[in-house]
Amino acid sequence: MKSKKTAFFCQQCGHQSPKWLGKCPSCDEWNSFIEEEIAGTDARTPPAITFRESPLPIDSIEADEKDRLIIGISEMDRVLGGGIVRGSAVLIGGDPGIGKSTLLLQILDKLAGKGSRVLYISGEESSKQIKLRGGRIGALSKNLFVLVEVSLENILGQIMEIKPEVVVVDSIQTVFSETLSSAPGSVSQVREASEKLIIFSKKSGIPVFLIGHVTKEGSIAGPKVLEHMVDTVLYFEGDSGHAFRIIRSVKNRYGPTNEIGVFEMSGQGLTEVSNPSALFLSERPENSAGSIVVPSMEGTRPILVEIQSLVNETTFGIPRRTTIGVDHNRVSLLAAVLDKVCGFHLGNHDIFINVAGGVKLNEPAIDLGIISAMISSFLNRTIVSGTVVCGEVGLTGEVRGVGQVESRVKEASRMGFTRCIMPKSIALDNLAKIKIDVVGIRNIRELTDHLF
Ligand code: TYD
Ligand code: MG
Repeated sequence: MKSKKTAFFCQQCGHQSPKWLGKCPSCDEWNSFIEEEIAGTDARTPPAITFRESPLPIDSIEADEKDRLIIGISEMDRVLGGGIVRGSAVLIGGDPGIGKSTLLLQILDKLAGKGSRVLYISGEESSKQIKLRGGRIGALSKNLFVLVEVSLENILGQIMEIKPEVVVVDSIQTVFSETLSSAPGSVSQVREASEKLIIFSKKSGIPVFLIGHVTKEGSIAGPKVLEHMVDTVLYFEGDSGHAFRIIRSVKNRYGPTNEIGVFEMSGQGLTEVSNPSALFLSERPENSAGSIVVPSMEGTRPILVEIQSLVNETTFGIPRRTTIGVDHNRVSLLAAVLDKVCGFHLGNHDIFINVAGGVKLNEPAIDLGIISAMISSFLNRTIVSGTVVCGEVGLTGEVRGVGQVESRVKEASRMGFTRCIMPKSIALDNLAKIKIDVVGIRNIRELTDHLF
C-alpha cells in the first residue's frame, strides 16, 4: 500500500512544515504543530472541481446589484452590504454561546417565510434540539430544512438534491471529508471542507454561511487562509453579561467593512435594535465627572457612545493604564500628550477608560473624547451637559479633522445634544443647517475653556 504523505500544520494559523517545530515561524505560537495528511494525495480524492469557462468582455457579463436576497432583518442586510449576494460565502465567528446558531436560524426562517427553500446543516446539535430552539424563537417554516450531518461528501450530495436557495453550515469545524484521515477540526480538514463548499457555492450560485469557532485570542479557529477564501467575514461580539450583541463585518467584498448591526438577546431569540445610540446612552449617569459622549462612525452609520474615565492617584506601585473598548496604547499616548501639552501630571495616576455598553471603538476620531473624559475625571469637574466631542489628536496636541462630520453632528443633534466640540478645520458653515452649536478648536490647550 502506498504510504500517505503527511506534513506538520500549525493548528493556530495553518502554517505547513515538513518537520515538527516548537514555535510557529508564522504566528509565533508555541507547541502548535500536529502531523496531518496532506490534502489531495489520496487516490480516492476526486479531481478538483474546475471552472471551464472562457474570458468575457466585462460589459457583456450579466450582474445586477439588485440580484441580492433581502433577508428582511435590516440590521443583518446592512452588515452584508444590502442583502445576500448569490454565490457568496460568508464566514461568521464568535464566542461560544453568543448566539450564532440562533441568529442564523432566524435568518433562514425569515427567508423561508418568504417562500425560499433553505437548508440548515448542523454538526453540533441534534435535529430535536434544533426543533426546540426553533420553537422558542418561532422559526418553524416548512421551507426550512434541517440536516444533521458532518460528512462533507454527504452534505454536498444533499445540497444538490434539495437545491436550497441558502445554506448554513453550523459549524465548519465539525465538517470532515472522508478522503482525509485527519481528525475533524484539524487544519487540513477545515481547509478542505471550506474549499469544497466555497467552490460549490460559486459554481451553483447558492450562498453559503459558514459558522466558525473562535480561539481564545478571538480569531476564527483554523487556518487564517479561511478568511481569505470567503467573500465576507463577520464577527459576532458582545459579552454574555450584556443582553445586546453586535455583528461586525471585518471583510466584505460586496459592501463596506466595519459596518455593525445591533441586536438584543431576548427570550424569543435576537431582536433588532434600530436606534443603537439610544440604547448605548440609556444608562448614562447625569452630571458625573469623567463621562463624555462621542459620535463614532461604525461603518456607514454614526453611533453615539459614552466614554468613561477614572483618573486616580496611584496608591501603590506602578501607575496602571486599563482600557475596555479602546486601544490601550492609544490611551497611554494621549495621556502623555495631555501631560506634555496641558501640564496635567498624570504620571503618578492610574487611568481607567471604559466604553459603556461593551462597544469596541477603533477610529482616531474618538481621541478628543478620551482626552476630555480624562481631563474631566482628573479635575473632578462635570462636562457641560448636552456636549459631544470628536476629533483626532496629534502628538503636539493639535486637533485634526475627521471624516463624515456632517452625519456625526446630525446624529448628535437627533439625540438631543446641543453642542459639538470639533476640529476648527472642519467646523464649516455647511453645519449651520443643523441645530447644534459648533465649537471649533485647534489644540487641546483650548479644550478646557469649552468643556466646563
Ligand atoms: P447559540 O445560538 O446556541 O450560541 P452559539 O451558536 O453562538 O454557540 O445561543 C445560545 C445562547 O443564547 C444561550 O446562552 C441561550 C441564549 N438564548 C436566549 O437567551 N434566548 C433565546 O431565545 C435563545 C434561542 C438563546
Ligand atoms: Mg451554535
